[in-house]
Amino acid sequence: PQVDLKLNLNVTKHKKPGIIFDIDGVLVKGKNVLPETLKTLKLLNTLHIPYMFLTNGGGKTEKKKAQELSQRFQVPIREEQVVLGHSPMRTISDEIKNKLVLVIGPDSCKEVAKSYGFKKPILSKEIISWRPSIWPFEDQQLLDCPYDLDNEQFGAVLMFNDSNTWGQDIQIACDILRSQNGKLGTQQIPYEKQAVPCYFAAADLLWSNDFPLSRFGQGAFKMAFTKLFKELTEKDIDIIQFGKPEKKTYDFTKELLEKFSKNCLNEEISNIYAVGDNPSVDVLGANNYGWHSILVRTGVFKTGENDKNYPAKTVVNNVLDSVKFILSQEN
Ligand code: G3P
Ligand code: MG
Repeated sequence: PQVDLKLNLNVTKHKKPGIIFDIDGVLVKGKNVLPETLKTLKLLNTLHIPYMFLTNGGGKTEKKKAQELSQRFQVPIREEQVVLGHSPMRTISDEIKNKLVLVIGPDSCKEVAKSYGFKKPILSKEIISWRPSIWPFEDQQLLDCPYDLDNEQFGAVLMFNDSNTWGQDIQIACDILRSQNGKLGTQQIPYEKQAVPCYFAAADLLWSNDFPLSRFGQGAFKMAFTKLFKELTEKDIDIIQFGKPEKKTYDFTKELLEKFSKNCLNEEISNIYAVGDNPSVDVLGANNYGWHSILVRTGVFKTGENDKNYPAKTVVNNVLDSVKFILSQEN
């Protein structure tokens, strides 16, 4: 009877759906947690359903983000469940990681870059201290420049997270990309080729916080940056793009979800559902990857039957309804 029982357990063990949640506009709006969020995640924990967070945001390590989310959502969340826009940057080659790299985003991104193995990340506000006439405005708190940039060469430009210093970031990034071999203060005349690779963590034009209208994201920065670069050089910047809706990011997330589900929950996954608020980012990415896209009406998308350009497979009002829908499909 013991053998029979084991056999029976193996046969009847149901696979579970895997759920990928976007964060901004789905679970939170700026500093506010949306009213359905706590109930939704508690329900999933009770049902032992594997889920992950896949956001184009960032600016902190996955570990720190997991701690912050655990506190805000009142459920235990592990760092293995968090993918940020810049998470796949840890896969960049050691050759680049050993070089000096410009990191664009809040100051905290420098520590994130270090945690990914970048040996010499530097912020624009440190570079300005090296030679203040590079950005001739005196209204910000600068940081000491840790390197003698007269004797250094840049190896990459990394757009990590939304920046509140667009002007200086674009100016310095353009300087680096059209320099001679990454040496700041030099210029290729005429311009021939991009001096170093340029990576972006996300490219969403808009995202949703607690302001009534959607806000500019990294995609808006990218538009301004690439337009100015083209104006200077008549050439396009070659950008290696991470974040949603890029396939690389979905490959990265799928692998983590499968590992998390197997190692931490001992569950196998049936179908994967991706819940998001931004049609051109979350829905497009999920549809392209073959996941079941669910669009909520609490973020960038607010009203209507479905998005015209990037229609989701399912549209619901909020995150709790998305999980109710998933459970109705899987039972
Ligand atoms: O900066 C945050 C924004 O780019 C989008 O975040 O969670 O909606 O992917 P999310
Ligand atoms: Mg969102």
